[in-house]
Amino acid sequence: MSDKATLEINGQKHEFPLITGTENEVAIDIKTLRGVTGGVTTIDPGYKNTGSCESAITFLNGEKGILRYRGYSIEDLAEKADFLEVAYLLIFGELPTQEQLDKFHSDIKKHSVVDDDVKKILDAFPKSAHPMGVLASLTSALTAFNPSSVNVESEEDMYNAIVRILGKFPVLVAWTMRKKQGLPLNYGSEDLGYVENILKMMFEKPNKEYQQSEILVNALDKLLILHADHEQNCSTSTVRIVGSSHAGLFASLSAGISALWGPLHGGANQAVLEMLEGIKEDGGDTKKYMGKAKDKEDPFRLMGFGHRVYKNFDPRARIIKKSADEVLGDLGVEDPILDIAKGLEKEALEDDYFVKRKLYPNVDFYSGIIYRAMGIPVEMFTVMFALGRLPGWIAQWREMRMRKEPIGRPRQVYIGENHRDFKTIENR
Ligand code: SDX
Repeated sequence: MSDKATLEINGQKHEFPLITGTENEVAIDIKTLRGVTGGVTTIDPGYKNTGSCESAITFLNGEKGILRYRGYSIEDLAEKADFLEVAYLLIFGELPTQEQLDKFHSDIKKHSVVDDDVKKILDAFPKSAHPMGVLASLTSALTAFNPSSVNVESEEDMYNAIVRILGKFPVLVAWTMRKKQGLPLNYGSEDLGYVENILKMMFEKPNKEYQQSEILVNALDKLLILHADHEQNCSTSTVRIVGSSHAGLFASLSAGISALWGPLHGGANQAVLEMLEGIKEDGGDTKKYMGKAKDKEDPFRLMGFGHRVYKNFDPRARIIKKSADEVLGDLGVEDPILDIAKGLEKEALEDDYFVKRKLYPNVDFYSGIIYRAMGIPVEMFTVMFALGRLPGWIAQWREMRMRKEPIGRPRQVYIGENHRDFKTIENR
């Protein structure tokens, strides 16, 4: 293949270098386009064909349904690693030795207390507040209590900001859930593992000894790994572009949480459960909802289906679907919603509308069924997605800052009014 692309504009030919990644993805490097063409730019709504960066963190192939973190397959990591190991891998690029992992966890534990004044901010929210809005606010508020997390020019400053947020974020997640449930805001135990501690903080009751469940720990560990990174998705691109202005890590993460909240993105896991509940209330009439999803006049979409990149099964959905059967079986939970989900999936995979558009179940289609079986309220589902995605956001933000990427500032094509003279109000 040639290493150049040629573009002809108004009879003038321009050559641009082609760059090829380690997985043979090819991109046209158009860094000089505007300069050599006298101002011509490109336009690509939703960036469906546009790369924002070169990254060494996550590789996915949407056609083949491949997902790898730093070269390791998601299947291997979900089966053989734990979430803190995967967080270390994503952020620093290698699977940690036991010594490195122990130090990482110890540094995180040193910062797993949140300034008590943050509770005053949390108290100001009504119980009806959506947890994603609360979490975005509290995450941004952490900057006020940890100002050193802003000017992270050195690797050491960056490391300190990273272990701080990995220590404090699970506390904010637990407090956000407990606030809605009217439960006291607590801490877990330093002698527990990272995921064990998250579950204890979320579920401990003030009047009885918390019993750890191996099933829940393994289920949450796997779900968090599966959500940990996904290259340049909407919320990760948000974290990168906010961080490119040299805003601090916590502020950049807060922006990512807000982007993830949307029902077309991370908010889909909540929307899937609400959709499945609606179908169940409606007598389980999946055909009616399939019809709505295909009706262009109807805004209804089959939530948890389709993906910007995967035009094959989302490999995470495959793993989560299997895990849903296992977890519900282990917990002895019979959930008719799971059967409705499987019925919907079967119908969609045999329906021409979905097959033609290559719409398959994505990561959000089955995850909520497991969260619900674990006793997590539906409004907390996207918060759990954010908890899993935290190390990926951190890794991408760190990579962007270490590579000294320029501030993100896209161009546009103006389609508004041409110059016109001002009219005084009497003449309008
Ligand atoms: C995540 O990007 C990531 O990596 C995200 C994520 C991550 O890990 O970060 O994987 C997490 O966000 C998963 C996606 C969760 N969202 C949903 O489940 C919401 C439902 N899905 C859709 O809204 C949609 O599929 C998107 C938003 C996910 C992708 O939309 P695209 O790529 O912009 O595709 P599109 O909207 O242009 O749709 C193409 C066609 C259209 O029909 P036509 O105009 O060609 O006739 O497919 C149709 C769409 O109407 N379509 C659907 C559909 N998804 C797409 N029709 C019915 N139901 C759906 N779910």
